[in-house]
Amino acid sequence: MLKDKVIIITGASSGIGRATALALAKLGAKLGLAARNYAALSAVADQARQLGAQAIAVPTDVTQKDQVADLVSEVLATFGRIDGLVNCAGVGVIRPIEQLTEEDIDRTYAVNTKGVILVSQAVGAAMLKTGGGRIVTPVGTMGRYVMRGSVAYSASKWGAVGALKAMATEWQRSGIGISLLYLGGVNSPFWDAIEMKVQRDKMLSVEDAAQAIVSALQAPAGSVLNELVLQPDSHQFI
Ligand SMILES: NC(=O)c1ccc[n+]([C@@H]2O[C@H](COP(=O)([O-])OP(=O)(O)OC[C@H]3O[C@@H](n4cnc5c(N)ncnc54)[C@H](OP(=O)(O)O)[C@@H]3O)[C@@H](O)[C@H]2O)c1
Repeated sequence: MLKDKVIIITGASSGIGRATALALAKLGAKLGLAARNYAALSAVADQARQLGAQAIAVPTDVTQKDQVADLVSEVLATFGRIDGLVNCAGVGVIRPIEQLTEEDIDRTYAVNTKGVILVSQAVGAAMLKTGGGRIVTPVGTMGRYVMRGSVAYSASKWGAVGALKAMATEWQRSGIGISLLYLGGVNSPFWDAIEMKVQRDKMLSVEDAAQAIVSALQAPAGSVLNELVLQPDSHQFI
């Protein structure tokens, strides 16, 4: 079903984005992979090609509109169309409000909110010309709930949720389907820089997260998986 579909994945150099790229490579998708770390991104593109997929690595900072435009142009020049976007680029800051810096607020907003808007806007414009596509964003449960220390992070994710829901209204009946995936904790490098005691072995795996993303991309024509909450079984309904 996703064979030969052209899919852009931001944040493909690590964690959920990387696992999604490899899952989609196994299904024969054509991949436009984006992130800032070109060495890591190229390694993922190489692995995807070893799995038989066509893949290009396009170094991109999603907070920079010109780089986002270049990403979309390069994918269109290579593959001719865009069928799917997976917004995995993101940064995590979980810190008590007393310790939250202005830089934390600016950085989480720039990547998690503005970056999602810029990439979805540019990809959406391309999808409108070819009858639609799927935009899947693993916003995380902090786009739906809150927790101690999540002031900047939740604000950035709730911002992304608001923006994506507004896009869905603007693009109604255009063929563009928007999926918001509220994933609970996922054991990825995301947690390496977070100073909070967590049980990483109890979290979802990046492969679990990728499977949810693939399911959203595979929703049958004429339907859309709008929202999904996927939690580790230790965290049901919270
Ligand atoms: N891990 C979790 O528990 C969890 C749960 C729910 C939702 N999420 C969300 O899922 C997404 C992926 O998280 P993850 O767990 O896979 O984290 P990760 O392993 O830290 O990966 C984050 C990715 O974002 C990219 N990135 C960061 N800033 C960027 C920028 N300015 N431009 C382009 N790419 C950028 C990074 O690549 P470069 O450094 O190479 O740019 C990396 O590929 C994030 O939005 C996160 O909030 C995570």
